[in-house]
Amino acid sequence: MKILITGGAGFIGSHVVRHFVNKYPDYQIYNLDKLTYAGNLENLKDVEQASNYHFIKADIVDKDTIFSLFAEHRFDGVIHLAAESHVDRSISNPTEFIMTNIVGTANLLNAAREIWDNTDEKVFYHISTDEVYGSLGETGYFVEDTPYDPRSPYSASKASSDHLVRAYHETYGLPVKISNCSNNFGAFQFPEKLIPLIINNIKHNKPLPIYGEGKNIRDWLFVEDHVQAIDLIFHQGKSGETYNIGGNNEWTNIDLVKKICQIADKKLNRNTPAESLITFVKDRAGHDLRYAIDSSKIQRELGWKPSPDFDALLDKTISWYLENEQWLNSVTSGNYQKYYEKQYAKR
Ligand code: NAD
Ligand code: DAU
Repeated sequence: MKILITGGAGFIGSHVVRHFVNKYPDYQIYNLDKLTYAGNLENLKDVEQASNYHFIKADIVDKDTIFSLFAEHRFDGVIHLAAESHVDRSISNPTEFIMTNIVGTANLLNAAREIWDNTDEKVFYHISTDEVYGSLGETGYFVEDTPYDPRSPYSASKASSDHLVRAYHETYGLPVKISNCSNNFGAFQFPEKLIPLIINNIKHNKPLPIYGEGKNIRDWLFVEDHVQAIDLIFHQGKSGETYNIGGNNEWTNIDLVKKICQIADKKLNRNTPAESLITFVKDRAGHDLRYAIDSSKIQRELGWKPSPDFDALLDKTISWYLENEQWLNSVTSGNYQKYYEKQYAKR
């Protein structure tokens, strides 16, 4: 079986690639990635020599390349993770998100539709986000048929791609699956996202920027739990279906950041508590208040469930960033500094 994984050099993608390469030695895994600022082959050092692993540097927006790759390999399955993924960047530069997330997804769908002949055994699995459902109030949960209400350029681009994927199923019978998940955390996440950014700033004694009052709520899902869900959906999920994946683990941003500070204080053995670095800054434009997922469908139908011990997983994640200094230094040099300056200097 030949599987194309797009965005496999990114945060979640690298965990998915590693899992499929190691667990399924009979599968040939093709990781297609443009290697944007968020893509990093260092994330895959431990599998790059595996005989069932292949890397292709390509841009999903490049239709001709995508079509020739499909014609050459006739992949049996696609797990589509490639995307521009950071909400703040979508606010300052939406065009990149429209191109990669919408046009890029359309190119993959068109290639699959035109090049796959017998689709009975094929799978086109699109990875999406809970942000397509919009913002919750203090109560309630997103379920699979919650109406779409995206509010940022990022979530609007992901919503568009989800609609295209479903439309290709309804119109052309393409065998698609979709999952929408909450905020992932774990190793190899680019430090523009809240958890690794806070850890990196604690390490360098820099202010810990909290947007607004820090009362926004996110549901945190351990990336390895997400990978288990992706494996189950890819192999056992029903064609044409959507599955919501959540960690059952809601935190206000301020409580989460305080928790990270307390864990880091113990590990770094410093005299001044990291909490003293917390700085409230200008809120994100259109900042969604709360995301929370009802994942009972995947739990009931596929037997998946998230790990219960958030504190232990957060502790393990913080240790990973503190112990992988070289990785953290390499991804925060150069362009990251310019991004950071632009994003936070005048906030
Ligand atoms: P990421 O930003 O860490 O990685 C994205 C990867 O896609 C990078 O390797 C990048 O080089 C690649 N890429 C970007 N544009 C490309 C293009 N035009 N052609 C080919 N490759 C390209 O993202 P992530 O956090 O790992 O997210 C992966 C997927 O999961 C995305 O689709 C995202 O929307 C979705 N998702 C992420 C989260 C989360 O919490 N991180 C939650 C829900 C859904
Ligand atoms: O819900 C799933 C989504 O989770 C994914 O689809 C996105 O790809 C992923 O980036 C993530 O989006 P968020 O916007 O929720 O994640 P982020 O880490 O950027 O922010 C988490 C919360 O922390 C959010 O409420 C904004 C806040 N925040 C973030 C940063 C970077 C701060 O307060 N300060 C910061 O510096």
